[in-house]
Amino acid sequence: MPPRLDLIRPHVQTLEPYTPGEQPEDANLIKLNTNENPYGPSPQVLRAVKDAVDDRLRLYPHPTAEPLRKKIAALHDCSPDNVIVGNGSDELLALATRAFVEPASPRGNRERQTIQYFTPSYSLYPVLAAIHGARNKEVPLTRSFGIPPAARLAQRGWLPKAALNFVTTPNAPSGRRYRTSELRKLCQTVQGVTVLDEAYAEFAPENALSLVQEFDHVIVSRTFSKAWSLCFQRVGYFVGPESLIQALHRLRDSYNVNGLGQIAAGATLDDLPWYRENIRKVVEQRERLAKELEQLGFRVVPSAANFLLAAPPARSGDAQAWHEEFRRAGILVRHFTGAAVKNYLRITIGTPEQNLRVSEIARRLLAARTQGRKH
Ligand SMILES: Cc1ncc(COP(=O)(O)O)c(C=O)c1O
Repeated sequence: MPPRLDLIRPHVQTLEPYTPGEQPEDANLIKLNTNENPYGPSPQVLRAVKDAVDDRLRLYPHPTAEPLRKKIAALHDCSPDNVIVGNGSDELLALATRAFVEPASPRGNRERQTIQYFTPSYSLYPVLAAIHGARNKEVPLTRSFGIPPAARLAQRGWLPKAALNFVTTPNAPSGRRYRTSELRKLCQTVQGVTVLDEAYAEFAPENALSLVQEFDHVIVSRTFSKAWSLCFQRVGYFVGPESLIQALHRLRDSYNVNGLGQIAAGATLDDLPWYRENIRKVVEQRERLAKELEQLGFRVVPSAANFLLAAPPARSGDAQAWHEEFRRAGILVRHFTGAAVKNYLRITIGTPEQNLRVSEIARRLLAARTQGRKH
C-alpha cells in the first residue's frame, strides 16, 4: 500500500526526532554512552518492585503519584503541591513547552513563542521546540562551557522575555557546574519560566533547589534515571511554584507515571544511604579517570556529573575515529557532531574495572598511533 502522507500534518512530516544514545544488542560491550549508573538499584528497591508484581497490575496506578510526591516533598522540604512526577523528566520538559510557550505565529509576541537555551546543552530542547512549533533561541556558552556573564548575555542575543528558558546544570554534555550564585544572577535576567535541568545534580557539590524558594518563575527538574539507577522505570520530577506546577498537572495524561515506576522511586527514597555510597564511588572514579586521561594528554573538562567530556590528545586522530576505535576495543562512548563538542568524547563513569579498561584502551590506542606516526 502506498504511504498516506496526506493524512499526516505537514509540520509532523518534517520533524527530526531526538537521537537517543545507542542501546547496543551486544551485551559484551562496556556501555558508557548514555550516562546510566554503573550500579543497579538497591536490593530493597528490587524487592519492592518484585513484590508489587501481582494482581495489582490490572489496576491503574495513582493518577498524580501522590505517595511518591509526598516523599519527594519531604526530601526537599516543600509541599506535594510543589511537585509533579513525570514519565522521565523528558515528559515534564515537554509539558513545560506546551504549558508556557505559544506556538510560533506571525502575529503575537515573538518572545512568548520562544524557548531559549544555551549551546551546547541537552539536545532534546531544540526537538521539543520543533515539535511544539515554537521558536528557539540558542545562545552559545563560553569556550569553556561557562554561562556568559550578564553583561555579555545581551551581546550574544539572550532574550530577557523568552517564554521558557532551559538551563542544564551541571551542563551536559560538558559536565561543567555552575554555582548557585551565578544561576541566581541568570534567573534575575529573565522574566519567563526558567527550568534548571538538574538531571546530574546529585553528583555535584552544590545544587540550585533553593532558587525555587526565591523566584516565582523558577522550576528545578530532577530525574530518578541517573543517581538513582532507574532509567528503565522512567521517573522524573519538577519542583516549582504551585501555580506553575498546577498548570502542568492540567496538561498531563491521567496516569502518566507507571505503577512499578512509582513504587521503585518511592522505595529508592527509603534507601538513600545505599545510593549515596554509590554516588560517592562514581564521583571518586570520575576524578580518578579524569586524572588518568589528562596524564595521557587528553583535555578533560572538569565535571560535576557522572560523565567526562574529554578531547583526545593533539595529532592523535579526531574524536570520531577515537569513538570507533573504542568501540572496536569493546567500549561504547558518545561522540556528538556539534561544533563546540565535535573534538570531544563523552564518557560515562562506569565501575572501577570499566574505567580502568577505558584508560588502558586509551593508552594502547595512543601508543599504536604514536608508533604509526614514527614509521
Ligand atoms: C540534561 C538531561 N536532562 C534530562 C534528561 C532526561 O532524563 P529522564 O527523562 O531519564 O528523566 C537527560 C537524560 O540523559 C539529561 O541528560
